[in-house]
Amino acid sequence: ETTNEVSYTVTAQAGESQLLPGKKTKTWGYNADLLGRTLIFRDGQHIHVTLKNQLPELTTFHWHGLNVSGPIIDGGCHAPVYPDKSSDIDFTLHQQAATTWLHAHPCPSTAEQVWHGLAAMVIVKDDHEDSLPLPHNYGVDDIPMVLQDRRFHEDNQWDYRADYDPDGVQGPTAMINGTINPYFDVTTQKIRLRLLDGANRREWRLHLSDDLPFTQIAGDGSLLPEPVEMTHLMITCAERAEVIIDFGKYKPGDKVVLYSDDVPLVEFRIHDYNPDTTELPEHLLDINPPAVDPTTPIRHIVMSGMDESVALDGKKFNMQRIDATQPMGQAQYWDVTNTNTMDGGMVHPFHVHGTQFLIISRNGKAPYPNEHGYKDTVGVNPGETVRLLVRFDLPGVYMYHCHIIEHEDGGMMAQIESY
Ligand code: C2O
Ligand code: CU
Ligand code: CU
Repeated sequence: ETTNEVSYTVTAQAGESQLLPGKKTKTWGYNADLLGRTLIFRDGQHIHVTLKNQLPELTTFHWHGLNVSGPIIDGGCHAPVYPDKSSDIDFTLHQQAATTWLHAHPCPSTAEQVWHGLAAMVIVKDDHEDSLPLPHNYGVDDIPMVLQDRRFHEDNQWDYRADYDPDGVQGPTAMINGTINPYFDVTTQKIRLRLLDGANRREWRLHLSDDLPFTQIAGDGSLLPEPVEMTHLMITCAERAEVIIDFGKYKPGDKVVLYSDDVPLVEFRIHDYNPDTTELPEHLLDINPPAVDPTTPIRHIVMSGMDESVALDGKKFNMQRIDATQPMGQAQYWDVTNTNTMDGGMVHPFHVHGTQFLIISRNGKAPYPNEHGYKDTVGVNPGETVRLLVRFDLPGVYMYHCHIIEHEDGGMMAQIESY
């Protein structure tokens, strides 16, 4: 069917951006000076992408959260595109509606390239999600929100090497969708934010002014089974959360601020809007966990260390080594442990390529209410073991790693083959 085929060209390129008054900042982006326009894909679509590299160094194009066959289409370390070269990928997407993203993934310079700006949101749509009474008007009431932080040096430039920290580079200035001190004009009673933690190491502790409650409807890889109302939300590196904010108690001229801890991220400026009385559906998505064959052993994965000593199962990443295998279509429990201790130990956000998993438990207890949907990244706290239910539906080699990007580049990564 030709109507179901789409083609894109995504060019990784260097540019400059007016982020602060004065000198422009040297930045990288996808078809853009910094970050990139959101790509919108649909379940069932046949997608062709030409990947072009106009940067002075090699890069890769990783589809974080897409169920695509690895490792070339998936775009991890195995799929370099050299400067002034291009490559072509094709895939048919079979996946539920979700907020995913594209980012550079050349090992070991993923962190530096993402810091320069090689990240963009990728939204997956499907018929089920379209049919629900949710905000769907992209840019009006359905808003991408890429959360990052940067440090500006002399002449407003970033200096990744100067800021380097093996536990993850961070900066004191919040950058939202590649903008410093952004605001958003609210023209509808309800908006949907698609939040993405696109930072190298920072986790965001989100809340609104007046402690205005909001409702989470989706996580990384799908809608939640039901909406979860909250006033505080934490997301860690690479995680996504879709939330609905109802501004019904505000009037034109009012302002609502989204904070992380006490740092203001975005100001919502309320304008005239039509009253919206639609209720959120009580039920959003049926989740049918795949059955696990009782003879299938539990896979144990250990994330250990901090700074240069980080390791996965006691080892550093080696692209020539396949660390594990799992038959295609077979569901398996993965017990992922963070051996850091509570005092001062870091949360390691654990990510698996090419699949969406379910979170079964945290230290034997039920997962948080907002993690009952499909996910591809989970914050594993110090001293914690998180049980995941993982299945690969496509063949290939897939990386799994800590998504503090400097930990990943530091070797806290392994790969599994599904066959
Ligand atoms: Cu966000 Cu290995 O990826
Ligand atoms: Cu990924
Ligand atoms: Cu880590």
